[in-house]
Amino acid sequence: MNVEFYEKIWMWVASALLVVFLGAIFLMAGLHAVEPPSHIETLDPEALSAHPEFGNPAVKIQPDGSVVVSVVAQMFSFSPDPIEVPANRPVTFRITSADVIHGFEVVGTNANAMAIPGYVSQFTLTFRQPGEYLVACNEYCGLAHHRMVGKLVVKKEAP
Ligand code: CUA
Repeated sequence: MNVEFYEKIWMWVASALLVVFLGAIFLMAGLHAVEPPSHIETLDPEALSAHPEFGNPAVKIQPDGSVVVSVVAQMFSFSPDPIEVPANRPVTFRITSADVIHGFEVVGTNANAMAIPGYVSQFTLTFRQPGEYLVACNEYCGLAHHRMVGKLVVKKEAP
């Protein structure tokens, strides 16, 4: 079979592109997909009740004034509930699950994370607007998934 010189070049270029693109997919799958895209903090989901932080999930004010909220999601509620935090201060949420995968979304804000058994999902947010926010589970987690809601109360701080 006679293949034109320029056609050969383009066949090699096309093959090289395939190798590059497939390589990128497999590389990223190997690097990232085996772990959740977070800071990969793990814990034993079977021993949550004995965990120093998540055994008693609560809102804690740090010495520097920032706020850390530890949250455990379980079928079909969040602990603590309600969550009370001050406005205009950085609030770090640390979320895990006691059973299956849940969601933690503060409706009307861009707070949205997955609660994954065995892992801690963490993000920091400052709430500017005092008020009551709905916390919704947005990952299907069982028969009462649609009833899995909580409340976040952002309190106006005394100046
Ligand atoms: Cu928890 Cu859906």
